[in-house]
Amino acid sequence: MPSPRLEQITPDNVLAACAIAIRPDQEGLVAPVARSLAEAYAQPAVAWPRLIVDDGGPVGFLMAFLDVQWRPDDPADVRSGLWRLNITADQQGRGYGRFAVAAVADELRRRGTDRLFVTWAPGPHGPERFYHRLGFRLTGETSGDQVVGVLAL
Ligand SMILES: CC(C)(COP(=O)(O)OP(=O)(O)OC[C@H]1O[C@@H](n2cnc3c(N)ncnc32)[C@H](O)[C@@H]1OP(=O)(O)O)[C@@H](O)C(=O)NCCC(=O)NCCS
Repeated sequence: MPSPRLEQITPDNVLAACAIAIRPDQEGLVAPVARSLAEAYAQPAVAWPRLIVDDGGPVGFLMAFLDVQWRPDDPADVRSGLWRLNITADQQGRGYGRFAVAAVADELRRRGTDRLFVTWAPGPHGPERFYHRLGFRLTGETSGDQVVGVLAL
């Protein structure tokens, strides 16, 4: 039974985080971790990046976004959610993705947020069935070429 945990990104684990690699056929579904960390550096108040670690070492990476004004014309529409999720190719299907979503949900609840948003690329090879399985529903919106999902917390 895995007992995963989250670690902050530190000088000791940053290269292990950058080495997290999804399957080659999944490239394009999520940014590489190094790019996510560059974005986190540029937006430290918004980004909440964490390494997902199990007893055997790193198994994935997640990055939440916190309190983002979603549309430029609506200051009241402030959202938080899951920005990036990369589970290492040979560790997929073992519950780490579910753990990651639950961990972000816990963090958002702690911050007083009642909805967890995520966007994903639609299509049979994307993470759509994963998010539906975890209870996300489509909002009917799109963000670029991605659909928007939400989970009530
Ligand atoms: C999508 C991703 C995060 C899922 O992580 P994971 O660790 O493999 O998923 P889990 O093992 O936690 O699965 C949780 C549940 O979703 C289901 N599930 C996961 N992927 C699925 C898929 N492609 N199709 C159908 N069901 C799926 C599992 O069967 C499991 O259901 P269960 O608990 O009832 O058995 C992972 O495959 C990944 O990193 N993919 C590439 C990058 C990506 O698409 N990231 C998301 C960007 S928005």
